[in-house]
Amino acid sequence: MLDELDLSDLSARPGLKWVQAGAAGAIPAWVADMDFPIADPVREALTAAAAGDLGYPAWDDDQHDNPLIDAYVKRTADRYGHRPDPGHIRIFTEIIQALQAILHVTTAPGDAVAMHTPAYPPFLETIERMGRRLVPLPMVASGSGWTFDPAPMAGCKALILVNPHNPTGRVFTHDELSGIAALAERHDVLVIADEIHADLTHEPHRHITFAPLAPERTVTLTSASKAFNLAGLRCAVADVAPPRVRAVLDELPPMLLGQPGTLGVVGTLAAWQHGEPWLAEVRRLLNRNRRLLAEAFPEARLPEATYLAWLDLHELGDDPAARILTQAKVMLSPGLNFGPGGAGFARLNFATSRPVMEEILRRLETIRPD
Ligand SMILES: Cc1ncc(COP(=O)(O)O)c(C=O)c1O
Repeated sequence: MLDELDLSDLSARPGLKWVQAGAAGAIPAWVADMDFPIADPVREALTAAAAGDLGYPAWDDDQHDNPLIDAYVKRTADRYGHRPDPGHIRIFTEIIQALQAILHVTTAPGDAVAMHTPAYPPFLETIERMGRRLVPLPMVASGSGWTFDPAPMAGCKALILVNPHNPTGRVFTHDELSGIAALAERHDVLVIADEIHADLTHEPHRHITFAPLAPERTVTLTSASKAFNLAGLRCAVADVAPPRVRAVLDELPPMLLGQPGTLGVVGTLAAWQHGEPWLAEVRRLLNRNRRLLAEAFPEARLPEATYLAWLDLHELGDDPAARILTQAKVMLSPGLNFGPGGAGFARLNFATSRPVMEEILRRLETIRPD
């Protein structure tokens, strides 16, 4: 059922992914939305909520009694072996909103903020628009995958740790994360750990949640929006472990940052509590597509997590996505948008049905260097 949609079904979709590609006459393999229909328990919960009570939700404005808190704590304990303190959880509308709020209350214009590069473009834009200074931790291609040197994070106020990493798909190891934790401790760096892709970690890799490695200095951000394909519901969770960060956040007027609506909370709860069979099936399909991709691009470094493949296409010039859009009518995310290390790369989203995946690969095969 999840794998059957074809181009005519999908091209009628009203969301950003298909509308923008449709306007260019292309198949989308860009923005990080999946083409699979959402999980039945999520659809049923949303339908029931819409048919029921869409008045003010029952939780307080300060959200300390939001049902997402217990659901998040339980799920994190069950899946990742770490039980966050429910009193540390704050609810946001999106990861990007939570990130901006945390940066706003913990750093000042001119402060240095480290991030692995290439990087998720809205985070680069956030750093720039907020007047913070990006300190890149370049991901370096090696025989075995991608490596990095964490040393430049010394001297930074904060590190944005996107793990699993977008766009390379790296799942950082315990050794790598311990090295980061030790440096953060030594140099008093706040770690903002974005773990939104954690549930999409492929075997044999294991996602290790960062918070227990540096509990006094970690803010963890996550949401059901990537693994369960619910970005439009606008709902995210932050585990704000450091007391000083909670204190400044809690001084903000309670509604300044807004709140997710009822449907965001209902959909996220249904996904986390009843979405496991759907997620297992989606992960199986993503693995199948990863294998198809590996056959088409034997040289590619495949992601250890996510449905995003970071393809080195230098032979097509600095902006391979532009050329592929024009010549093959497939819309990829241009590597240049991902900051340092992005030239010559393109990011391919392979979260789609078999017929569409095969058509994408067939079209990409027609592209040849000059
Ligand atoms: C690493 C990462 N963080 C955050 C997001 C977006 O989260 P939100 O829509 O909740 O801001 C994405 C979306 O692709 C992402 O890849």
